[in-house]
Amino acid sequence: MRRKRNEFLPFSLPSIGEEEIAEVVDSLRSGWLTTGPKVKRFEEDFARYIGARHAIAVNSCTAGLHIALAALGVGPGDEVIVPTFTFCSTANVVVHLGARPVLVDVGEDLNVTPEAIEAAITPRTKAIVPVHYAGQPCDLAAIYRIASHHGLPVVEDAAHAAGASYEGAKIGSDAMAAGAPRVVTAFSFYATKNMTTGEGGMVTTADDALAERMRLLSLHGMSRDAWKRYTSAGSWYYEVVAAGYKYNMTDTQAALGIHQLRRLDGFIATRRRYAQIYDEALAGLPEVETPIVRPGRSHIYHLYPVRLALERLTIDRAQFIDELKALNIGCSVHFIPVHLHPFYHDAFGYRRGDLPAAESIYERILSLPLFPKMTEQDVWDVAGAVSDVIGEFRAVGEKVMPTAVRSQALAT
Ligand SMILES: Cc1ncc(COP(=O)(O)O)c(C=O)c1O
Repeated sequence: MRRKRNEFLPFSLPSIGEEEIAEVVDSLRSGWLTTGPKVKRFEEDFARYIGARHAIAVNSCTAGLHIALAALGVGPGDEVIVPTFTFCSTANVVVHLGARPVLVDVGEDLNVTPEAIEAAITPRTKAIVPVHYAGQPCDLAAIYRIASHHGLPVVEDAAHAAGASYEGAKIGSDAMAAGAPRVVTAFSFYATKNMTTGEGGMVTTADDALAERMRLLSLHGMSRDAWKRYTSAGSWYYEVVAAGYKYNMTDTQAALGIHQLRRLDGFIATRRRYAQIYDEALAGLPEVETPIVRPGRSHIYHLYPVRLALERLTIDRAQFIDELKALNIGCSVHFIPVHLHPFYHDAFGYRRGDLPAAESIYERILSLPLFPKMTEQDVWDVAGAVSDVIGEFRAVGEKVMPTAVRSQALAT
């Protein structure tokens, strides 16, 4: 028998507390609606949390990736190595700069492999952009070794990875970045992320010159601390020294971020606990493969992606998602490989078959709901629904539920 929840469980919901609301109201009352003292405070708090010399707040991770590559001088004729298994923005920013995104394949842990990066390096390569998929760090030791060997900078897409660490060092920290020549890390505070400012992002780096250049590019290329020009400490005079972008974060966004950051470790702990419940509840189902976590990585579970063994089912991934929706469970897919999007075919000639690992994973993957505002019962409901759908559409064998899911389901 199929169990249907009474209420729809969305794929993701933010956890906004009273402190965040009061801080936003305080910003509104203060008159500082755009970049001001709260952005400065948020940058300082974030730099301290990550252990980074510089943290520059921007209005999205996309903006952060863009100014990082621009600050590194990426331009027409250059190539930038990007995994295909990512959100389109990781590659789009390379295109904005007139360079070519060289899309590469991923491994079983869904992260880009060092081998794929190394094989893609040419004399035109200008930067490497690894993505810490779902909140699990890539094999940074190997990637940094390759970057150092070829003298290439690394711009890490840590949209999913604020608070994750690799061999004990936080992603984006100076301690981590010491392993490669020039490293910039870009984080996202989009509404579904582990901490949110609605829309927003941050770049961190240990490199003074890159930090200075990125700060400049984030606000029209106006000379330093231009935002202070409306304070008693500021002056009306500024100079534009580069054709920069309008990527600054607002104080109302930072007001959210200051309090979300304080709660981040608690959010991560809840995500990890729920991921462990999923791991255990789904372990007995050969039709589902749960996330593979490599040793030495602290995974913060921005996503909980599972892969379906489609050969054991009579439905495909899209139908599986529809069946879960019919049971009032919202899911999503991360990601449609970048090289399969029409633009990347038309502009760069990528085609199906180019990156087979990512293509095969894409056919089978779906992300289950995972956010701190869920209850433990919600997690069991999702696991129970996955088990029920599998039970109904199993291609071969006996129709049974795994014990852990069955006993919890009966308790509800
Ligand atoms: C892997 C990855 N990179 C970059 C981004 C872009 O982040 P933002 O929406 O903050 O620009 C996302 C957003 O979801 C993402 O998942």
